[in-house]
Amino acid sequence: MATHRLISAAATPEEEPINWSLRPTRIGEYIGQSDLLQRLSIAISAVQARKEPLEHVLLHGPPGLGKTTLAHVIAQEMGTKVYTTSGPALTRGTDLVAALTRLGPGDILFIDEIHRLPIAVEEFIYPAMEDFRIDVPVDSGLHAKTVQIQLKPFTLIGATTRAGLISAPLRSRFGIAHHLDFYSTDQLLAILTRSAAMLRVPVSDREALRTIAARARGTPRIANRLLRRVRDFTQVKGDGAINPVTVTAALKLEGIDPLGLDDLDRGYIRTLATVYRGGPSGVEAIAASMNEDAQTLEDVVEPYLLMIGFLARTRRGRMLTRAATDHLDLPPPADASLGGDAAPEGLFPPA
Ligand code: ADE
Repeated sequence: MATHRLISAAATPEEEPINWSLRPTRIGEYIGQSDLLQRLSIAISAVQARKEPLEHVLLHGPPGLGKTTLAHVIAQEMGTKVYTTSGPALTRGTDLVAALTRLGPGDILFIDEIHRLPIAVEEFIYPAMEDFRIDVPVDSGLHAKTVQIQLKPFTLIGATTRAGLISAPLRSRFGIAHHLDFYSTDQLLAILTRSAAMLRVPVSDREALRTIAARARGTPRIANRLLRRVRDFTQVKGDGAINPVTVTAALKLEGIDPLGLDDLDRGYIRTLATVYRGGPSGVEAIAASMNEDAQTLEDVVEPYLLMIGFLARTRRGRMLTRAATDHLDLPPPADASLGGDAAPEGLFPPA
């Protein structure tokens, strides 16, 4: 299962405390996402001068890139509190009454996986977002009525890996929306350098950290996880200080190749290359051949393969590029339009 992958971007419950200790708490400590941080710090300074709450913020992008961290960074900068919940945890609108009524002026309500908010909850929060007011039903049947409760002006921060699943009315109620991008190797190197110092891990060679950064799939959470695995390996098999030899050996043992691909990624590429001759193929068909879940492939395997140019999503389906088959020494894709530069979505006439 994808959740057990060393390079899964999803956080495991055991690593949550250590992730927290490594997270930046202020904008000044945050590495990467500079456009977003610039926009946020301007917005924060402006509303603080006007003594207003920050507009509602929607953060979207692949898992592990820092959406939750950013919500806490924003609260810290605003000098306010943050309350956290998630789409799947809320089933009825009234589930939010307690959370919303205890928010102080300028406090933040963070809703993770906001694309999984049931429609009833979504409709319940519209007036909260717009007018800082909720309509709470009391009694039912013949005596049904609602009471209106006025809330303190607060900021909703919604996070999602699937912006496309957010309804237009909900999306339109966010004043600020921003996509988080994968981090560059240099940015991940800076994050790892900071983490190694915080964890007091001796590093004999900066190139060793660069090797970890290059295999972390553009994702800080993965980079920090690989660092901890390399630290264990070095402590047991090496001389205690992380160096390029222990990094390479540790990551090889974990099945992570120089591009950061693991068994699941390689399985995906191999299936698409051999069963479907490089595509085009639908993700459901690939998932069925691999005995995997299509959603998992879409959320955790494909974004990174798309980013490194190994995969193209076209109207006709998923297509491997020549770079992908070359990487694994597989036969090149059969489709003539694939030469490592498959046409992007939209260029193909409908099938
Ligand atoms: N740790 C995890 N993500 C980070 C980031 N973006 N900046 C600094 N440290 C981090």
